[in-house]
Amino acid sequence: MSEHPRRPYMVGNWKMHKTRAETRDFVAELAPRVADHAAYVDVAVCPAFVSLAAALDAARGTAVRVHAQTMGRAPQGAHTGEVSAPMLVDVGVHGVVLGHSERRRDDGETDRLLAEKVPAALEAGLEPILCVGETEEERDAGEMERRLRHQVQEGLELVPTERLAEVVVAYEPVWAIGTGRVATPEQAQEALGFVRALVGDRSRAGAERIRVLYGGSVKPDNAAEILAGPDVDGALVGGASLEVADFAALVAAAAR
Ligand code: 13P
Repeated sequence: MSEHPRRPYMVGNWKMHKTRAETRDFVAELAPRVADHAAYVDVAVCPAFVSLAAALDAARGTAVRVHAQTMGRAPQGAHTGEVSAPMLVDVGVHGVVLGHSERRRDDGETDRLLAEKVPAALEAGLEPILCVGETEEERDAGEMERRLRHQVQEGLELVPTERLAEVVVAYEPVWAIGTGRVATPEQAQEALGFVRALVGDRSRAGAERIRVLYGGSVKPDNAAEILAGPDVDGALVGGASLEVADFAALVAAAAR
């Protein structure tokens, strides 16, 4: 595994779940369970803003990273309700999920906005996880590649070429999120290979080193076959990241 250019990555996106106490208990229980795998796999959880401090407290001195689920585009200013990248860095957050399909759907996040957020995160010192993925209608209409091309090219457009490998891209087909309808291993590999090729249009070295994750109904019983794809560097997990036993099993699957 050591000669592989990319470390596996298992990221739990908690969405709008877990209080501070639940967050603290989860991280305290997770950390010892994944400690042995930390040599082979990066592990992160993404709590709600108000539980970030609890997660960071519990994660201190462990291998568990703490990410936010979104951030504002500007570093500061008159943007009521927003939290900026430098603020997240200030509390000790490691990375940030950007452009999740639920935010594209519910909050009108566009590729144009994400083109600004991704480099803003990098500049502040956060690891951006850019989410992309087609809807069922787009897939059925043969529009998947066009959609992904737009999302990946625009999302990474303002990232300096030499920093492309610091970004993580998560391919999450909208039809597989929270539906129990996981993509087949072939569908996941095909899409992630396409994403990597798009990065390769900018930089061959960047494409070899950038990590691309699959997301959408990943569970302990389907993870191994999905993670086996040569371009699948890990997973962005929703529902199955809410239970310590399930998420620890996913980390173990990624470490293999
Ligand atoms: P599920 O794993 O619940 O399908 O959610 C996937 C997701 O949206 C992770 O960001």
